[in-house]
Amino acid sequence: MNALQDAGVPVASSCGGEAVCAKCVLKVLAGGENLSPPTPDELFLREKDNLPADTRVSCQARVLGDVTVDARYW
Ligand code: FES
Repeated sequence: MNALQDAGVPVASSCGGEAVCAKCVLKVLAGGENLSPPTPDELFLREKDNLPADTRVSCQARVLGDVTVDARYW
């Protein structure tokens, strides 16, 4: 989420990156292996909200290489 915001790309959030709202969830189109493993908070949100496997909670994921993501609102 921070990497996108630093690049001027808006990311939905109502919790400010505290892993509560799940509004920052993005679909990973490519390069998912270049994201850090899910944090315990992300794993909790993923289970609670039944998030699809091809998504990540962007405020909890660190970018380690090239990644292509999409959001429904872009
Ligand atoms: S910004 Fe709320 S969970 Fe990521």
